[in-house]
Amino acid sequence: MRIGIIGAGRMGGGLGRLWAKSGHHVMFSYSRNPQKLQDLVDETGSHGRSGTPQDAARFGEVLLLAVPWHAVGDALAAAGQLDGKALISCVNPVGHSGLEVGMTSSGAEEISRLAPGAIVVEAFNTIFAGLLHSSAHHFGDSPATVFYCGDERSSKARAAQLIADAGFHPIDAGPLQNARYLEPVAMLLTELAHSQLLGSDIALRFMNPAGPTESVVSADSLAKSFAIIFAGTGDGSKDSQTLAEDFVAHIPFNRHPVRGRERFDTQLKIFRSAFSNFQCNIDEVVDDGNHVAVRWTWSGIHTGMLLGIAPTHRKVAFSETHLLRISGGRIVEDHVSANLLDLLHQLGAMEFAVA
Ligand SMILES: NC(=O)c1ccc[n+]([C@@H]2O[C@H](COP(=O)([O-])OP(=O)(O)OC[C@H]3O[C@@H](n4cnc5c(N)ncnc54)[C@H](OP(=O)(O)O)[C@@H]3O)[C@@H](O)[C@H]2O)c1
Repeated sequence: MRIGIIGAGRMGGGLGRLWAKSGHHVMFSYSRNPQKLQDLVDETGSHGRSGTPQDAARFGEVLLLAVPWHAVGDALAAAGQLDGKALISCVNPVGHSGLEVGMTSSGAEEISRLAPGAIVVEAFNTIFAGLLHSSAHHFGDSPATVFYCGDERSSKARAAQLIADAGFHPIDAGPLQNARYLEPVAMLLTELAHSQLLGSDIALRFMNPAGPTESVVSADSLAKSFAIIFAGTGDGSKDSQTLAEDFVAHIPFNRHPVRGRERFDTQLKIFRSAFSNFQCNIDEVVDDGNHVAVRWTWSGIHTGMLLGIAPTHRKVAFSETHLLRISGGRIVEDHVSANLLDLLHQLGAMEFAVA
C-alpha cells in the first residue's frame, strides 16, 4: 500500500518505519524540521520519501493523521482535498485539562467534519508511541490490541491490515461514533502510565471466552472462509481462525445440533462424501455487526449415500441460508435454513414417495 503520513513525530515516525519494514511505501510530511523528515527517509530506504502534506495526500492510498489535536485544522488545511481517501486518525483530542471533546462527539468525528470528503477510521489512539519504537511491542506471542472504528467497510479492512502489518492485533470497535468510547480509553491508559506510575510500556490485550481473539478482516472474508470449510477446498490452516472450538451448528439434516469444530468437520466430510464435483458459491452476505447471514448454493453429483438415499448420479444444486453468530472474530453458532423438500425432489425421492 502507499501511505501518506501527516505528522512525523512519535506516532507518525514509528508507524511509518514499521509499515516500510513490512513492505509498504510511505511518504512522511508535516514537520517543522526538514531534517527530521530526511532522517526518516534515510532510515526507511527505498520504501520511504518525504514531501508536503499535499504531496502525502496525493501519494497515499491511505493517509495517517498523527498530529496534536491543536494542529489538526492546520494539518488538514495543508493536506488539501482528501475526497475518497481513507484517513486513519490516531489523534486524541487532548488539551490542557484532558479530553476537549466527548460524550456527544469525539476527535475522530470532528476530524471527519473538518475533512468531509475523507473516510475517517480511528486507530492506534490507545497504543503508546514508545511501543512502536521497540520490539517489546510484540509482548511475546501476544501482540497488543489496537482497536479501530469507522463507518466504511473497505477503509476499515485496510486499517485492520495496517494494524496487523505493524505487529498488532486489530479489533473492530464498530462505527466511527464509537471513537467516543475509544478516546476515553486512551485517557485511562495515560492515567495508568503517568499518574499511577505503571509506565508507558503497557498495552491492552483483548480477551474472549471463545479463545484467543483472531484478527477480524470483514464479514465477507469470514463468510468466504466458512464456504471454503464447507466445500472442503482449503488446507485446513484457517479453520481455527474461522470457527470457534465450541462452534455449534443447527442444520436441517440433523435433529440435534452438532457441537464442536471437530464433530462439525467430521459431519461435513460424511456429507460431502455423498457427492463428486462438490462446489459451493456464495450468493449474498448480509452483516449487522453481530450476526452475518450468508446465502450460498452448493452443487455436486450424487454419487454416495445421502440421507439414506442410494446414489442417483443426478446433478444437484441447492441453496441454504446460514445465520452466523460471531464472537471474538469467529463464528460460534450457525442456524441453517433450507428447503429440504427441494433437495429430496432433486434426488427423485419425492417421486418414490408418491409412487
Ligand atoms: N505519543 C503517544 O503515545 C500517542 C499515543 C496515541 C495517540 N497519540 C496521538 O497521536 C497524535 C500525534 O502524537 P505524537 O506523540 O506523535 O506527537 P508528536 O511526536 O509531537 O508529533 C507531532 C507531529 O506533528 C508535527 N507538527 C506540525 N506542526 C505542529 C504544530 N504546530 N504543533 C505541534 N506539532 C506540529 C510535529 O512536527 P515537528 O516534527 O516539528 O515536531 C510532529 O511531526 C496526537 O494527537 C496524540 O494525541 C499519541
